[in-house]
Amino acid sequence: MHYDDRGSGTPLLLIHGFPHDRTLWAPQLDGLSAHLRVIAPDLRGFGAWMDDRAVLTMDDHARDLRQLLDDLGITRAVVCGLSMGGYVALAFAALFPERLRGLVLSNTRAGADTEEARKGRKATADRALTEGVQGLAAELAPKMFSATTREHRPDLVDRVRTMLARQRPQAYAAASLGMAQRPDRQDLLPAIDVPTLVITGSADEMIAPAESHRMAQAIKNATLVEIPDAGHLPNLEAEAAFHAAITGLVTRV
Ligand code: MLT
Repeated sequence: MHYDDRGSGTPLLLIHGFPHDRTLWAPQLDGLSAHLRVIAPDLRGFGAWMDDRAVLTMDDHARDLRQLLDDLGITRAVVCGLSMGGYVALAFAALFPERLRGLVLSNTRAGADTEEARKGRKATADRALTEGVQGLAAELAPKMFSATTREHRPDLVDRVRTMLARQRPQAYAAASLGMAQRPDRQDLLPAIDVPTLVITGSADEMIAPAESHRMAQAIKNATLVEIPDAGHLPNLEAEAAFHAAITGLVTRV
């Protein structure tokens, strides 16, 4: 498994989204490792982790991450997932609740895909395998940012487009089919009993802020932070606010 591991103190495990790799978390490795042990792995199939499975489920990723914590000798971590990483974090919370010290659910949702969304996943998988990922990367990258970020930080859009364009078609396909299979996790939310932070961007065009509000209401111990003018990637678009929210959670764990 390929991962970055920087700093010391409370372990914070960062799980990237689709179709990212661990470089998504570069600002957090720089900005949070003075106070925390920040661990950012590539999920199976992405970044440096070659994998040719046809389907990668959220449970597969959660098991890989449990193995990583075992290998690092970490009993309990604050687990932070963004978007697909949030689906993985919820799978982790369902499978290994005893390994959680806190939970961060950023720009994600607890519900399963609709039938229509599942068809879209299948189309994405087929398209990646037949035509490659360049077109998908070019379409997806701008949608991950707010209009404000697109206007003022075109460098961020370029950086993410490049990240998306270097992932392998097999990873796009396997993760899309895996996301389509994920179960509805809404029943899990009331059972989460660690301090939880739900983060959203007020201008997230990919997962509506209302999804985050609903999740935060269903979790006993949750705080909600909605970052103004940020889109789907507030860790890049609003680094300072993102870090302040995480630091706030860590004081509660
Ligand atoms: C992500 O950023 O991980 C994706 O938007 C998740 C999804 O497609 O549901």
